[in-house]
Amino acid sequence: MLNNKFQGLPKDFLWGGATAANQFEGGYREGGKGLSTSDVMTGGTHTTPRRITPELEEGTYYPSHEAIDFYHHYKEDIKLFAEMGFKTFRMSINWTRIFPNGDELEPNEEGLKFYDDVFAELKKYNIEPLVTISHYETPFGLTKKYNGWASREVIDCYVRYCNTIFNRYKDVVKYWLTFNEINCLTMPFGTFMGGGILLDKGGELEFNKEIDDSRQIRFQALHHQFIASAKAVKLAHQINTDFKVGCMIAYMTTYPYTCNPEDVLLAQERDNLNNFLCSDVQVRGAYPGFAKRFFRENNIEIKMEENDEQILKEGCVDFYTFSYYMSNCSSTDPELERTSGNILGGVKNPYLKASDWGWQIDPKGLRWTLNNIYNRYQIPLMVVENGLGAVDKVEEDGSINDGYRIDYLKAHIEEMKEAVNDGVELIGYTPWGCIDLVSASTGEMKKRYGFIYVNKDNDGNGDLSRSRKKSFYWYKKVIESNGEEL
Ligand code: BG6
Repeated sequence: MLNNKFQGLPKDFLWGGATAANQFEGGYREGGKGLSTSDVMTGGTHTTPRRITPELEEGTYYPSHEAIDFYHHYKEDIKLFAEMGFKTFRMSINWTRIFPNGDELEPNEEGLKFYDDVFAELKKYNIEPLVTISHYETPFGLTKKYNGWASREVIDCYVRYCNTIFNRYKDVVKYWLTFNEINCLTMPFGTFMGGGILLDKGGELEFNKEIDDSRQIRFQALHHQFIASAKAVKLAHQINTDFKVGCMIAYMTTYPYTCNPEDVLLAQERDNLNNFLCSDVQVRGAYPGFAKRFFRENNIEIKMEENDEQILKEGCVDFYTFSYYMSNCSSTDPELERTSGNILGGVKNPYLKASDWGWQIDPKGLRWTLNNIYNRYQIPLMVVENGLGAVDKVEEDGSINDGYRIDYLKAHIEEMKEAVNDGVELIGYTPWGCIDLVSASTGEMKKRYGFIYVNKDNDGNGDLSRSRKKSFYWYKKVIESNGEEL
């Protein structure tokens, strides 16, 4: 008889939280660390874009320099994660702590030592690290020397960095992600953030701006990252056969605005180009046909070396991870009202409400997305970012009643369970910014995601003290009950 009983989430489900070095570590000049791309990005707001300053300007505020100072608070922070019952903790290694300029031949011992200490602290509480190797912080030295990932030379620098950290941490880290939101390079947003590429045509450098035809440069850079990622996967498996290496995609869920076949096809085309292009290469090991058509029709030429196709084939990832915050719609009608979103905006959906930053809240979209991805690849999935960026109010008694965040997360976890019930192999969930940190898109502190509040404002004022929000106690119960008590 077919056993069709639903067992709930797997017993060893990896509950946790997610962060990135450039947004929470601080200590930007400590322990021999070099400058990274994020260190030259100024603060901004919802309406004022962040700027890139090729030289650090005196008197200008750079949010990554201190961030929330995990560099000096890691023991306290990890203790709080353990109190919530985290099984895993997603963090990134700051490339410039290990290779300050990016192109050195020998690593910086002090940087390596810092992560020895962090991993030891996690081990103390049986928290499994999930490490992003590159999360929006290419060494700025590589930008200056090579224009970042626009040049093929950077591949070797990245592989050297991987070789160093894989060997050093081979007994303490099992799960690795090669590039955060690698598909951001398909959008102008990713040019500097993901690619470390400067497109200077005079004037102010805004990081989220399309300049002339940057697509040729971006897609070539993306190819370099694909090769780097594939080489890293192969190397990882050689160094430790137990290593599991994943891709990480910013999943930009988009629905057809109407049942007009034009809209349906447009939505599918966006899903393919924005989401599946990268994962097809990383999971299946080859460029899909729709990518070739897109390159052909847009005069984009991807320069490849003789054995690139082979490298891609031999470097397929073991699991698929993604960020999911919101969804939007696709329509051929240019007059429709639009709204913003993670990396990419789209047409407004009349059935959904949005966050204060205009990101449309869509828990059911997470179920749809999980099914959509799993139907295609049939490999284990992890949601490694999800959450609500909101303004929190500290009450007079110090409490923070973030019921809206609980509502958001609860609804998404419910849909995650539905997807597991649908047959999706989901192995973990790490909500974004489990501790308040700097926003990547705006550079703000005000846009908070955490279960843990950090006393710091947009201008850098505050004593950095940590406190538990209402959602902290709620999430602890969720983990304790393996998602049964929401
Ligand atoms: C993802 C990134 O795009 O979304 C994170 O991987 C980022 O680095 C997160 O912080 C939330 O976006 P934002 O702009 O609200 O910080």
